Amino acid sequence: MKSTNELLRNQVEKALIAAFGEEMAGTDPVLVPTTNPKFGDYQANLAMSLAKPLKQKPRDIAQKIIDNIDVSEFCEPPEIAGPGFINFTLKPSYLEQQLAAIEGDERLGIEPVSHPQRVVVDFSSPNIAKEMHVGHLRSTIIGDSIARVLEFWGHDVLRLNHVGDWGTQFGMLITYLREVSPDALTTANALDLGDLVAFYKKAKKRFDDDEEFREVSRQQVVKLQAGDREAIRAWELLCEQSRQEFQQIYNLLDIQLTERGESFYNPLLSKVVEDLETQGLLVEDQGAKCVFLEGFTNKEGDPQPLIVQKTNGGYNYATTDLAALRYRIEEDGCDRIIYVTDSGQSTHFAQFFQVARRAGWIPDNIEVVHVPFGLVLGEGGKKLKTREGDTIRLRDLLDEAVLRARAQLESIIQEEGRSETEEFIENVSRVVGIGAVKYADLSQNRSSSYIFSYDKMLSLQGNTAPYMLYAFVRIQGISRQGNIDFDNLSSDIQIQLGEETELALAKHILSLSEVLKEVEKELLPNRLCEYLYQLSKKFNQFYENCPVLQAEEPQRTSRLLLCDLAAKTLKLGLSLLGIKLIDRM
Ligand code: ARG
Repeated sequence: MKSTNELLRNQVEKALIAAFGEEMAGTDPVLVPTTNPKFGDYQANLAMSLAKPLKQKPRDIAQKIIDNIDVSEFCEPPEIAGPGFINFTLKPSYLEQQLAAIEGDERLGIEPVSHPQRVVVDFSSPNIAKEMHVGHLRSTIIGDSIARVLEFWGHDVLRLNHVGDWGTQFGMLITYLREVSPDALTTANALDLGDLVAFYKKAKKRFDDDEEFREVSRQQVVKLQAGDREAIRAWELLCEQSRQEFQQIYNLLDIQLTERGESFYNPLLSKVVEDLETQGLLVEDQGAKCVFLEGFTNKEGDPQPLIVQKTNGGYNYATTDLAALRYRIEEDGCDRIIYVTDSGQSTHFAQFFQVARRAGWIPDNIEVVHVPFGLVLGEGGKKLKTREGDTIRLRDLLDEAVLRARAQLESIIQEEGRSETEEFIENVSRVVGIGAVKYADLSQNRSSSYIFSYDKMLSLQGNTAPYMLYAFVRIQGISRQGNIDFDNLSSDIQIQLGEETELALAKHILSLSEVLKEVEKELLPNRLCEYLYQLSKKFNQFYENCPVLQAEEPQRTSRLLLCDLAAKTLKLGLSLLGIKLIDRM
């Protein structure tokens, strides 16, 4: 099914060609949804920008376009407003047809793209033996939602977990492991390090305090890099332990990821440096090998270097990212590579993108993009901490959300005098609690920081997950009460749109594909949240104004269908945010 937007675009372009000739082909109609319903539903704003090249007044151009346009099948006659806007109002009959066509289609009439891309979404990416912190949580939630939307459009998405599983810190960790748990390396499954983060801290302390420990650690790094069996085994044990901890979080959040950590690219690092050398980009500066950057200067105004090989011969984060980028383009055959990390890393991405471009490793048709996000703050706008002032463990943060959702649910159940099974309570609490954390994150414009507040995210009012989940339950409930088998409707059932609020709801439902297009392009899941929030509002306005169950036929069935479509739209939208649904709560 062609979207309304596409239909209109095609017609405007045709009219433009008919009025001004073939050379107008490909002109952007500058088509946007109107901000005010009194200007109709869509507005084409191209007449203004064509005034100069065509040497005519915008209003005259607009007039010529509408003289030549054929939109009668789906629009009222277009109107010209202001300096030369062309306003289009969709016909109710067209909307009715569209709604009938999407009913019964689980994709709601949205077809996958005709040329799917191969896309990497690099997200989550915590570091071994270190805390998976709220920054990683944001990356995980945002990255997953972006991946879901791209997958929905039919793209071939590689969800990559670029875990920090390589580097000099492993020398210290291995040395400490051998010290505290000498058997771990010889007996299978003997390792239980308990809290890996505490382990890391203790190892670090030994490293800082003891010169001999430091020396042994350095030897371990060399051994590890040389592929020494024992060192590798110790490294694997550490990674495995972390992996299990990360996996618990991913299970809770229902996240799919393919681990391809930094170590994966290890064999490719020397080639990065070699090739930069061949390209003539490499400069030796105080023993380190680096590329001097364009547009990045230090305090003195001198060009800043991006180091790719340290004085001691070691490689770093940037070298690994360069190797990974090449691999994703050359071996994975990607068309688009998306990195989801906090905005603190923006410079890192801008810098290695630049180096890769100058080295000719990013062909013009390949999009490489950093998707940055802001901080998660505690109430009061400071760093998020426990009451005792410690950093919050992700696991605890998520458990707490579920616990609070449960308390809220239990009090509602009690108030309403319902009796519910433990299974029901547990399931609803988890869906609401986890959904609330995700939605609170996704509903913000990702580039801003936001304040983490359980009270706010669990509120039943406003743009929150509980509100949206409740709206879904309620709307679905109404359409259920109507006792209609929506999936097996006889074909003579008609949707009829008469009331203002019905039309508004119908138009909103039908604009989902446009919002999803936007998210696909701009990678801003908050647009989808906002769309869903508006959907629930438009539904409420419709429901306040139009009797549904009490209405006479054929209106009753028509309105029940509208309810059903609203519920299905909410469901699809929430699922693309990675939020699970429940049938009642
Ligand atoms: N491990 C990094 C961190 O915790 C994030 C990695 C992001 N991905 C990348 N390709 N650099 O900050």
